[in-house]
Amino acid sequence: MDASQKKRNAAEAALQFIEPGTVLGVGTGSTVNFLIDMLPDVRDRIDGVVSSSNASTALLQERGFEVRTLNETGDIDVYIDGADECNKHLQLIKGGGGALTREKVLAAAARRFVCIVDDSKLVGMLGRFPVPIEVLPMAQELVSRQLLKMRGHPIWREGFVTDNSNHILDVEDLQISNPPEMEARISQIPGVVTVGIFAARPADILLISGDGGIREMRA
Ligand code: A5P
Repeated sequence: MDASQKKRNAAEAALQFIEPGTVLGVGTGSTVNFLIDMLPDVRDRIDGVVSSSNASTALLQERGFEVRTLNETGDIDVYIDGADECNKHLQLIKGGGGALTREKVLAAAARRFVCIVDDSKLVGMLGRFPVPIEVLPMAQELVSRQLLKMRGHPIWREGFVTDNSNHILDVEDLQISNPPEMEARISQIPGVVTVGIFAARPADILLISGDGGIREMRA
């Protein structure tokens, strides 16, 4: 089965978590795009939609959804999003698409965070995928120097500007043996807006799509 089909299956498996009256948070990326395509079929179960990026907002609006702000909705019932990497503790690396800040906000506001991935995303230790970090442009070099001291190798995602008008550093070679500790440490560097390690608030449910079907892991 190819990766696209696995992503489509993961998205389909997430629909069961959208119950009648759900205020839904929608993530960003190619896996979530399959979910967005399916949402019109469950429109009657959705009470409100909040989006994690301008890209997802545009796709939702094309399908006739009115996208509300988190300030309007308050906490959301279910947040569904993909990930770039996940481990068996349901800790994640996110931000490959650059939407990590709003994604982390929606994850924090969600009663239930359902993460949908194909089986290539599951790793023993996080960090094979470079860790995206959203930074204030004026602090990019300062943050880079601090990351070098942590033995990371930050690479500026040149030409990319986030929805919040910031820059992204993709950090290679970080040894993430303790994801919550690494998340906290990087978050404290002045100029860091968001680090793409999602460990303090991991997923609640992980749906891993493979050749043999969907494997569900819970926190
Ligand atoms: C977006 O910023 C990311 O956090 C995505 O959730 C992540 O990159 C997964 O994307 P795919 O579903 O395209 O693999």
